[in-house]
Amino acid sequence: MSYNFDKSLYFSALKTKILGREIFIYDEVTSTNDILLKENFPYGSVITASSQTKGRGRSGRNWVDDGSSLIFSIVLTGLSTDMLMPFNIIAGFSVCNGICLYADAKLKWPNDCIINDKKAGGMLLEASFTGNEPSKIVFGAGINVFNKSFPEDISHRATSIFLNSKNKDIKKELILAATLNSMEEMLDKYKNNQLEIDKLWANYSAYINKKISIHINGEKKEMIEKGINPLGELIVQDIISNKITNINSGEIGYDFNG
Ligand code: BTN
Repeated sequence: MSYNFDKSLYFSALKTKILGREIFIYDEVTSTNDILLKENFPYGSVITASSQTKGRGRSGRNWVDDGSSLIFSIVLTGLSTDMLMPFNIIAGFSVCNGICLYADAKLKWPNDCIINDKKAGGMLLEASFTGNEPSKIVFGAGINVFNKSFPEDISHRATSIFLNSKNKDIKKELILAATLNSMEEMLDKYKNNQLEIDKLWANYSAYINKKISIHINGEKKEMIEKGINPLGELIVQDIISNKITNINSGEIGYDFNG
């Protein structure tokens, strides 16, 4: 299913100076992240596509879409290695702000998008490095927008904006523009030390102070999510020992509500 992306609607809502001013719109691509990683596009360029044939998820998983999603990636440079995790969180805040035009979106650390306790989108930050510093950073998101149903095996944990919005006249262009507006503003503030991601987390988290199950090295542990620290690491409290731990590995997933 190809989506007729309305550029003028997108630009009417885009308030950024740089991010998303260059936008490349495709019908079908392998992976929007792949294209930005392999080819040279100017800083802040965005690629969006109706659909991907080789969409990538986190931890080596595939990201499969049926053409109902907003799929986009953006390329950045100039972020140091220690800014990658905070930027990943900022990008998650921004996607939530975009979706909030239509539905109440929250985050599952680090940046899965949750609506009413189900996953409505995923995000993937990738970087190429020169030495120890990233030379190119690509952030991509796949957001379930128009999906009216999901395959039976994932319907208990997957949802879409359409299924959660009273307004059914949903515009991908407006979600993308609002996401990029928010991303540029937050990133500028972060670079100027005017944005504390740890203080903002509670506004965006789907599970703050709630019981979550964390999977570490094949072991499942009951924890309470307490927040994130300024590095973007998840702070959790062990339910039995009350011990506080910071979690930073991308390999850790958690399922919710025990
Ligand atoms: C996840 O939940 O595991 C992350 C999914 C990320 C999917 C997006 S869709 C746009 C961009 N291109 C990709 O190949 N992956 C990301």
